[in-house]
Amino acid sequence: MTLDNFVVFEGIDGAGTSTQIKILKERPESSRISFSAEPTEGPTGRFLREILGGKIELNPKTTAFLFAADRAEHVWGKGGIVDSVNEGKAVVIDRYIFSSLAYQGVSCGKELPRKLNEDFPLPSLLFFFDINPEASLKRIKNRDVTEIYENNDYLTQTRKQYLEVLEEYKNNSHSDGMKIVTIDATKPKEEIAKIIWSHISNLPIFKS
Ligand code: TYD
Repeated sequence: MTLDNFVVFEGIDGAGTSTQIKILKERPESSRISFSAEPTEGPTGRFLREILGGKIELNPKTTAFLFAADRAEHVWGKGGIVDSVNEGKAVVIDRYIFSSLAYQGVSCGKELPRKLNEDFPLPSLLFFFDINPEASLKRIKNRDVTEIYENNDYLTQTRKQYLEVLEEYKNNSHSDGMKIVTIDATKPKEEIAKIIWSHISNLPIFKS
């Protein structure tokens, strides 16, 4: 099932999704959009940040469950994605099930993340920011915190998983009309912002 007016940004670390969300927030229309990200700011999301920072080491399967638990609250919890869409807002989020299918697909195989994520609603619009890990890692090397997946080898495998997963959705009738837009994330940010707005401005909420 897809949710109308629900938009997801995806890509490997350093692909520039957060930068584009910042640009989108500056638009006057952003008052009609609810923005959020995964991992969330909730208790499970905060715990995930500790795992991502390398403070706590868990079995990769446990991490996959935690990402799904954080997501369940994000989607169905009070004031979550479903509530926002029902209140007539557009929802734009940084990362969603495709991150689990790609990143946890590498760390614990495809099957578990698939099972854990099969019930979540799909966005009506998905942007995939494509970039090779050499370029993306160059962008994030000056950050204070390095997270567990931020290395060339892991991100190379993750990008491969993303491309496979998206191909599957493109060819699958269960995708229910989810529109997938692949962005060349090495383009100038202003150019990318224009492409993104050209799609978001076509959502039902901005047409009514
Ligand atoms: P990210 O948004 O890149 O955070 P930061 O602002 O620190 O760059 O997300 C943090 C990491 O979490 C990123 O490496 C991808 C990973 N992640 C998963 O592995 N699975 C998931 O389901 C999600 C939502 C994120």
